[in-house]
Amino acid sequence: CGIIARIGHGDATETLLSGLENLEYRGYDSAGIAVQNGSGVKVRKCSGEVDELKSSVERGLHGNMGIGHTRWSTHGPPTDENAHPHTDTVGDVAVVHNGVIDNYDELRAELQERGHEFDSDTDTEVIPHLIDEYREETGDTEQAVREAVKTLEGSYAIAAIVDGEERVYAARKGSPLVLGLDDEEWYLASDVPAFLEHTDEVIYLEDGDLVVLEPDSYRITDVAGNPIERSVDTVDWDPEDAGKGEYDHYMAKEIDTQPTALSNTIEGRVENGNVAFEDLPVGTFADVETVQFVACGTSYHAAMYGSQLLRSAGVRAEVLRASEYEQTAGPVDENTLVVAVTQSGETADTLDAVRRATDRGARSLAVTNVVGSTAAREADDAIYIRAGPEVGVAATKTFSSQAVTLALLTQRIAADVPTATPVDDREAMLESLEDLPEHVETVLETTNAESLAREYIDSDSYFFIGNGLGHSVALEGALKFKEITYEHAEGFAAGELKHGPLALVTQETPVFAIATGDDEKTKTNAIEARTRGAPIVAVAPDDHPIADAADRQLSIPDTHPVWAGLLANVQLQLVSYHAAALLERPIDKPRNLAKSVTVE
Ligand code: G6P
Repeated sequence: CGIIARIGHGDATETLLSGLENLEYRGYDSAGIAVQNGSGVKVRKCSGEVDELKSSVERGLHGNMGIGHTRWSTHGPPTDENAHPHTDTVGDVAVVHNGVIDNYDELRAELQERGHEFDSDTDTEVIPHLIDEYREETGDTEQAVREAVKTLEGSYAIAAIVDGEERVYAARKGSPLVLGLDDEEWYLASDVPAFLEHTDEVIYLEDGDLVVLEPDSYRITDVAGNPIERSVDTVDWDPEDAGKGEYDHYMAKEIDTQPTALSNTIEGRVENGNVAFEDLPVGTFADVETVQFVACGTSYHAAMYGSQLLRSAGVRAEVLRASEYEQTAGPVDENTLVVAVTQSGETADTLDAVRRATDRGARSLAVTNVVGSTAAREADDAIYIRAGPEVGVAATKTFSSQAVTLALLTQRIAADVPTATPVDDREAMLESLEDLPEHVETVLETTNAESLAREYIDSDSYFFIGNGLGHSVALEGALKFKEITYEHAEGFAAGELKHGPLALVTQETPVFAIATGDDEKTKTNAIEARTRGAPIVAVAPDDHPIADAADRQLSIPDTHPVWAGLLANVQLQLVSYHAAALLERPIDKPRNLAKSVTVE
C-alpha cells in the first residue's frame, strides 16, 4: 500500500492523485483521497484502479490539503467500504494507514460500546474513531493523535486530517513514511517517488515520530510531545528515472536500462584488482565466522547467488528465507554477519529476520536500493546497489545489481576473513565484470526472446533448470514468468528434475536450460527431459555444449562463469516480458502482488 499527503497553498487534489499514480507500483487493489477546504472533510474512495478514482473525483473536490492512499488488502476484501481514507462516525476525522493494528478487535469493541459506528472490516477504521474519542476528552487534536497512537499496538504509518484544521497529522512505527519539503508545500509519503517530481529534499521519519504539518511550517515530536530534530537529505534519483518514458511498461524500461544500472552499481568498487566499499574499510569483516543472507522473492535468488560465491571463497555462508528465519536459522552469535538483501529495504519479513538475528548478537548489513529505508537505517552497515528507482512490481534491474553487489561483497568479506580461501581466478572475474554492462547491451540488441515467447505461448507449463549459480537463475526465471504471465512455471536444480518433476514433462512443457559454467548436470537432465518430448531452450553462449541438447537457443556472450548467469537472466526477463505482453497481462501491476510487502 502507499500513503501520500500534501499541504500548502493552492490545490492539493491533483498532487494527491498523481502521487497515488506514482505509488501504484507498490501494488494495490483500491484507492482513495480526502481533502479539506473549510467546508468539511470530503472523501472519495473506491476499489479498483486510481483511474477509476480519478473519474469519481467530481469537479469541486478541492482543498489545499489532503491525504491519499492505495490499499493492498490485509483485513477485509478490496471493497469500496474497505478502501481508505476511513473516518469517524460523523466524518470529521479522516485517516489513511499502512501496516497492521494488532489490537483493533478489542479497540473496535470498546469504541462500539461508546456509540461509535463502523462501516468497514478494516483494522484502520479504529484510528479515526480513537482520535475523535480523544479529541472529545482532551479538546486538543494533536494531543488526541498522540493518545491514539499510544493506544495502538502493531505497525503503522498514519496520516490524518480533521475538519476545520489546516493541518496534516502523521505518525510512524514500523511502516515507512518520508516527509518531502518543497518551497511552498510539504508532502508525506510511504516512498520518495510519490513526490519526487516536486522535490528531492526529504526527511526520513523514524519509528515513534509524530509530525504536524501546517501550510508554512512542520514539527516533529516524539509521542510525549517533545520536539525532535531530523536531518534533511537530498535524494539523488532523477525524476526522469521514476517515469515510464517512451516505454509501454516500466518493466521494459527497467530491463532495457540495466547496462546503465550495472555501470552505476560497479562504479568505483573495483580498484587495482581489489573490491572497495565506502564505509566498509579493510578489516571490517575480520571477526566474521558465518554469514547468513536473509531475503524474500527475487532478492532471495540474488542472495542465493551471493551465498554460493561466498562459500566457494571458503567462508561459511547460508541463505535463509526471511519469513522462515525463526525455524531455519542455526546458531547465531556475535561472529555471525546477517546480510539483509532487500531492494526496497522495507520488506517486513526481512526486517523481522534481521531483528531476530541481531537480538541474538549478530552484526547486520543491509544490501538495498533505497537510501534511508528502514533496513538501511536499522542495520549496522548498509551498501547500496545503485540501480535507480524500480517501479515494475516484478524486480528486474535490481536483481542484476543485487547479484553484482553481492558478488563484490563476497570478495570483500573473503579478503578479511582469516580462514577464507580466495578463489583462484578472482582477478579474471573482477576484470571481466567491466564488460558486463556491454554484454547486457548485446543481449538486449540481439535477443530472439519475443519470437521464442510467441512459439511457446500455448504451452501447459514452463520449467527452468540450472545447477550451481544457474540454479538461482532458474528459480528467478520461473518466478518472473509466473508473476507476470500467470502461467505455471517452476524452477529446479537441474539434477532434481528426475526426482519428481519429470512426471510433469510432456511436449507442452518447454524446459529452459541455463548454462553458467560447470553445466554437465544441466545438460544431462535437459537431455532426459528432451527424451520425454519436452522442447529444450538452451540459455547459453553459442558454442556451449548444452546447445547440442537443445531445440532452441537464447544466446549470451561468452564471459566469466560468475557473470554468465546474469546474462542468462536478462534473456529470461525478456521471455517473461514478451510472453506476458502476448497474453495481455497487466505487466507492471500483476494481480495480488505488491512491490514492497510491509506486512508479515
Ligand atoms: C515482494 C515483491 C517481489 C520482491 C519481494 C522482496 O514480494 O513482489 O518482487 O522480490 O517483495 O522485496 P525486497 O524489496 O525486500 O527486495
